[in-house]
Amino acid sequence: MSIEIPVGLTELLQGYTVEVLRQRPPDLVEFAVQYFTRLRDTRSQDGSGATSAAKTGGKGVMFDGEPMQTESNGDEEDDDSDFEPPPPSRFNRRVSVCAEAFNPDDDEEDSEPRVVHPKTDEQRCRLQEACKDILLFKALDQEQFSQVLDAMFEVLVQPQDHVIDQGDDGDNFYVIERGVYDIVVQKDGVGCCVGQYDNKGSFGELALMYNTPRAATIIAKEEGALWGLDRATFRRLIVKNNAKKRRVYELFIESVPLLKSLEISERMKIVDVLGVKLFQDGERIIMQGDKADCFYIVESGEVKIMMKSKTKADRQDNAEVEIARCSRGQYFGELALVTNKPRAASAYAIGDVKCLVIDIQAFERLLGSCKEIMKRNIAHYEEQLVALFGSSVDLRD
Ligand code: CMP
Repeated sequence: MSIEIPVGLTELLQGYTVEVLRQRPPDLVEFAVQYFTRLRDTRSQDGSGATSAAKTGGKGVMFDGEPMQTESNGDEEDDDSDFEPPPPSRFNRRVSVCAEAFNPDDDEEDSEPRVVHPKTDEQRCRLQEACKDILLFKALDQEQFSQVLDAMFEVLVQPQDHVIDQGDDGDNFYVIERGVYDIVVQKDGVGCCVGQYDNKGSFGELALMYNTPRAATIIAKEEGALWGLDRATFRRLIVKNNAKKRRVYELFIESVPLLKSLEISERMKIVDVLGVKLFQDGERIIMQGDKADCFYIVESGEVKIMMKSKTKADRQDNAEVEIARCSRGQYFGELALVTNKPRAASAYAIGDVKCLVIDIQAFERLLGSCKEIMKRNIAHYEEQLVALFGSSVDLRD
């Protein structure tokens, strides 16, 4: 005998079940009456009538398979249990941004249920590989990082899929496993492609960090794979860590000459997206000829900038010549981002080095106004190279 499951029934019951687990009401029947009455009222208000797309306002459960929202409503009991939410369907649009009860400066141990999406070993390996260079995860400790990995879920995309639409509320943060994605921003009503992610990187952090609408549309150019992280886990772990990062880096960032012309709020946004990377003595940080995807500010230690020699004899044995050194507060790796050319030189750590790293998209978005200062440097670099190699070098685009 075959039984046809009515459209929307699964989501309806899932929503109710999740709400019961969150709120733990003493009387399930009474709670069901209230829950479904509220749902019916909301539905008749928005006039949609569609059960599967039923949208609850405020802190209610999001339907359509939206990952469970775990914001605290202030009167829940402590619950540290792991929780397996319904698998999120592909691109659910978050219905409304509710004012999160979460305070990033609050140092108290969190009591939110953890989101866990079980994974096979093979999935976990792919996930770990995709996340290893994600700057936003670099400030997490091991336990926090492992909670992030537990909460992530796989999302497969097809060409022309809109992973994010500008103006929507933010539901998930995404890490790219593979695929090419256009970044499209509306300017005066016209969509402009302002950049592209090419098989690596992450996006979708801004709406979750600042409770703002999505700032860009992200469109898959080919078949691809992403890993999503739900809003509640992102805020609980990443945003909380950013509050600490701000305290640690506020003064240092203020002292970096390049960033002096920025407003305080702009500098803080830089702190929010930067990652921290450590390098050992002699380690190569960037390599001449490579495609550039980030920019560095030295926090401690010294960095040696080396260029393959232009003189014939040296060129044959591929010798490198030291052209500059950078120490605390100085930056490198900006030239290729400003000129859109491959790396013009390599950089090596001298002793232990700690660098702040900003990826190319954040660089474009946040440091646009500093580009003029950086461009002025190009003439200076060219003069240095003429002095070293005796011939002119065109570093510009
Ligand atoms: P969010 O606003 O949550 O969703 C769209 C994402 O696009 C945004 O976060 C950033 O992660 C990413 N993005 C990349 N480049 C830009 C840009 N120039 N302007 C706005 N968003 C960008």
